[in-house]
Amino acid sequence: MDEIYLNGSFLPKSKAQISIMDRGFLFGDGVYELIPVFNKKVFLLDQHLKRLKNSLNLIQMNEIQDLDNIINKLVEKNQKSTFFIYLHITRGAQDYRNHIYSKNLNPTILIMCEDYPQFSQDLIKKGFFATIQDDFRWMKSNIKSISLLGNVLLKNYAFDNGCYETLLFRNKRLTEGSTSNVFIVKNKNIYTPKLSNELLPGVTRDLLIRLLSKNGLSVIESDIHESDVINADEVWCSSSTNAVVPIVKVDDNIINNGKTGYTTMKVYEIAQEFITNF
Ligand code: PDD
Repeated sequence: MDEIYLNGSFLPKSKAQISIMDRGFLFGDGVYELIPVFNKKVFLLDQHLKRLKNSLNLIQMNEIQDLDNIINKLVEKNQKSTFFIYLHITRGAQDYRNHIYSKNLNPTILIMCEDYPQFSQDLIKKGFFATIQDDFRWMKSNIKSISLLGNVLLKNYAFDNGCYETLLFRNKRLTEGSTSNVFIVKNKNIYTPKLSNELLPGVTRDLLIRLLSKNGLSVIESDIHESDVINADEVWCSSSTNAVVPIVKVDDNIINNGKTGYTTMKVYEIAQEFITNF
């Protein structure tokens, strides 16, 4: 886990250095991806690289070549078989601090391996708590930006209140969680907010929609209000770190008698099976 890739070299994490003039450090000027590796196989790499290309394009940066080869080399070097690739690209270092960027900077490319806890099936069956906050982040949450201060504050709000996640509402409509996308079930229908500039197009969100559809369950992409979430039969969050995380309480509102629901457990199992056979 110690070996990382930085700007053309593989080296130990403790030896890696970047300039204090890096625009990622000074302005949060960059984008990232978090990509699971299951049993030495990089999970849905093409989808992650496609989203990265889109994020780069949306911040007027060029596509970066050869990332798949570098990632695969790093996976080979790692003794572990299941972990996460953290891929971080900034606009690069500039001689002086200026909001206006030079057009000819060399991007800073950092790729490293990280561990995140995978929830056991027992924990999934028990479910997790969530809380609600206004989505006060910027209006380009579809970019996987490294400027994560809003998300950091909102995730810590959840943590400080004994919750897994903060569910975010803008103009009374659900956007996403601070680190996840959100699905609800009502009267056997599954809903998730439709994609827009207000939420990240989650790779896991997309996978779950496809897997559910293959299993004869369609997902309705629509506006979801606070009352829909509070009165939902089931709620779950999706992300690359844990594909399906059941929510059984939202603030003081108990969901499905405080137990993980049937559909959530089913989608969890379908996702686990897909991951195992990937
Ligand atoms: N975050 N929305 C937000 C705000 C997120 O930060 C994430 C994931 C998602 C889910 O996207 P995906 O299914 O592609 O992982 C949605 C990652 C895990 C992170 O920042 O660590």
